[in-house]
Amino acid sequence: MNSTAGTSTTDYTGPIHPAWLRATHWINAIAVAIMVTSGWRIYNAAPFFEFLFPKSITLGGWLGGAIQWHFAAMWLLAANGLVYLICNAATGRLLRKFFPLSPRAILADALAAVKGRLAHDDLRQYNAVQRAAYLFVIADSVLLLLSGLVLWKPVQFPLLRELMGDYEAARRVHFLAMAALVAFAAVHLAMAALVPRTLLAMIRGR
Ligand code: HEM
Repeated sequence: MNSTAGTSTTDYTGPIHPAWLRATHWINAIAVAIMVTSGWRIYNAAPFFEFLFPKSITLGGWLGGAIQWHFAAMWLLAANGLVYLICNAATGRLLRKFFPLSPRAILADALAAVKGRLAHDDLRQYNAVQRAAYLFVIADSVLLLLSGLVLWKPVQFPLLRELMGDYEAARRVHFLAMAALVAFAAVHLAMAALVPRTLLAMIRGR
């Protein structure tokens, strides 16, 4: 049973996911992979926790190389994210797909999922847990971008820097936002593998 079924999407004729959404989704996945793995290499050069990331799963080879990857992919990530948000808001899809949303609905769908009773029959509708997770990762990506701006240009963005505490605090914020995004991606990938029809729809639109 999908407890959020019948609440929002009414367009049953077009593709499940419009072409602009599929394009921005996959560009985002590539940009995120580059940002995360090059970011791990940058962290390794000046770690603030007790651990380093294994070199084999980092990108860039050395600090300078990793920074070049990170700075190249950040433009892709930001521009692509902007296109996604503008198209989503302008078409009304953002409201249609992700709302209404309430703590009660999230809890009900999470419980149903734990009991194995949360079906995903209608690929045009996200359940409340998906809605919450996607909205969370969108907000988390904005936080990553804002804390990244502080690390990139701390002098030019004094207000942002002070809002996060200071430069060193902004590094921690950036790291924790990265960790949250990686946790989301791990669950997200597992879900896509569990329900491969959703993956096909995200590739072909139908
Ligand atoms: C190879 C990696 C990835 C795969 C295989 C994948 C797969 C998918 C699939 C199948 C859906 C549709 C889910 C459904 O219809 O129930 C989806 C939606 C979504 N994914 Fe991914 N994803 C990947 C990476 C990412 C990453 C890295 C992010 C963000 C950091 C992300 C964020 C999202 C969001 C926000 C949506 C909802 C988009 C919308 O409808 O507006 N995905 N993904």
